[in-house]
Amino acid sequence: MRLRRSIHLTVFALFVAGASPSIAQDQASDAVQPERGGSTAKVVEEVRGAVRAARHMVASAHPLAAEAGLAMLRAGGNAIDAMVATQFVLGLVEPQSSGVGGGAFLVYFDGEAERLTTFDGRETAPALATPRLFLDDDGKPLEFFDAVVGGRSVGTPGTVMLMAETHERYGKLPWRTVLQPAIAVALEGFPVSPRLADAIAEDKERLSRYPGTRGYFFHADGRPLAAGETLTNVPYAATLQVIAEEGPSAFYRGPLADKIVEAVRDAEGNPGVLSRVDLENYRVVEREPVCVTYRAHDVCGMGPPSSGALTIGQILKMVEPFDLAGLGFMNVESWRLIGEASRLAFADRGRYMADTDHVAVPVDGLIDEDYLADRSALIAEERVLAAGEVQPGTPPWDHAKILGDDKSIELPSTSHVSIADETGNVVSLTTTIENGFGSRLMVGGFLLNNELTDFSFETHENGLPIANAVAPGKRPRSSMAPTIVLKDGEPLYVLGSPGGSRIIGYVAQALISLIDWELDPQEAASLPHLVNRFGEYDVEEETAAADLAASLVGIGYQVNVRDLNSGLHILEMTLDGLLGGADPRREGVAVGD
Ligand code: GLY
Repeated sequence: MRLRRSIHLTVFALFVAGASPSIAQDQASDAVQPERGGSTAKVVEEVRGAVRAARHMVASAHPLAAEAGLAMLRAGGNAIDAMVATQFVLGLVEPQSSGVGGGAFLVYFDGEAERLTTFDGRETAPALATPRLFLDDDGKPLEFFDAVVGGRSVGTPGTVMLMAETHERYGKLPWRTVLQPAIAVALEGFPVSPRLADAIAEDKERLSRYPGTRGYFFHADGRPLAAGETLTNVPYAATLQVIAEEGPSAFYRGPLADKIVEAVRDAEGNPGVLSRVDLENYRVVEREPVCVTYRAHDVCGMGPPSSGALTIGQILKMVEPFDLAGLGFMNVESWRLIGEASRLAFADRGRYMADTDHVAVPVDGLIDEDYLADRSALIAEERVLAAGEVQPGTPPWDHAKILGDDKSIELPSTSHVSIADETGNVVSLTTTIENGFGSRLMVGGFLLNNELTDFSFETHENGLPIANAVAPGKRPRSSMAPTIVLKDGEPLYVLGSPGGSRIIGYVAQALISLIDWELDPQEAASLPHLVNRFGEYDVEEETAAADLAASLVGIGYQVNVRDLNSGLHILEMTLDGLLGGADPRREGVAVGD
């Protein structure tokens, strides 16, 4: 833990121009302001203060989910107990983003053992999946939503096993206890949030395609659920009740497993090939974290099958030689450096990153210091690289495979949970059913994922195999980037975000905001976004970031000023206790004692 450093005033000036009011601002109204001096404090007060707590804290995308986690901590539970309670409530109140029908990655710091590890609860492709899964009869890739809606896109869900196994290993409270908050909310009902109501209305056509899903999200006359209406979910309560009583086998082997398989295989117009064998064989995998050292901080996250930590690590190491702190936020040179580093990192991501249990990936080479120093040299000249200059590199590798470049489509989705308890355990969980409302198939009160569309639809590029092509049992490449930052071996920050492949940009920017620009968690979450993945700069509309658009065009970028909906949840462990921030673009909160 450390004391917060002083704050860089110029960075905050942009909040005044850029911040828009949000629901979450009200929810944090009783938050204690972090200590600040003079005029800086005045500026920051006009945005939203970080929440401060002495003992423990939960930040997640819905107040009921965060409160459920906090209730477990208050009952003597630890961060893992809180995570399980939070996840099962999130799947109910934010069903479009994550749930028991999906998958998740956990980066976990065990306070007692002082050990950082990661758990892979990613979905797997069914044993019967073929390379043609997302190709039409002529061998052409399917349209994205033709692939998504129905059974074809559904991978074997991993979230229930991830919750159960990590709870079995680390949890303190009984398994039944940590499922109770979600069962209670499902039976008593919860108000449909404005964000959920908007998402239902916007997705009406796809969400109405299957009767079970239509019946849950729409009235009998076809009206979508409106914000503020009370929604109960008795089938979800029954699903959780049986998982509470019988453990994860009730999900992976019992009648519920039959129902999942049936829904996937019988999905009208677009059936899938998931089977009982896939569910019975599902395994959570503990993996080594992927870490880079950035300005004396160890930034650690989820390695393959996620591309999150590797791509973020590459971006950070490429910008490290440059003085981002001195340049500041409102400086187009900062964004040229971050944007060019991101483009180069995404080029490597598209060629090399995939499930290491199925393909060789140069994991160490991609974050090799000498390799990244060479890549960083490519951005040292003050100019924007032409498209042809942004190519994958040749990281050190003891494997002779020549690969093509990936063609995955990754739209915004997902949810992130950050938790710290008073014994030093820290949870960074990014959780998803992939696209908003996943496959749109509903079983037992929850939605099934469409995670398999995170694979490249095409299997080859110009005759060369694509690393992230679909194969039986393989896990689709993810962008999810649950992150824990260590300073001198102790957790300092925990963070992550939703946002499809923009997750990488959101989390990289948040890390630079915390480490270089010395923002607190709330300021980092609120900061306007600028994201570059493939050349075009996405710049957040109606914020101070949009004031940089003309300068970015001036140095040669194509710029798209648009909505950029992250969902960052960030905690900082200081000597004075915990500081928490929730993304004002969503309905999330940070709560603690
Ligand atoms: N489906 C979102 C991700 O894994 O990146």
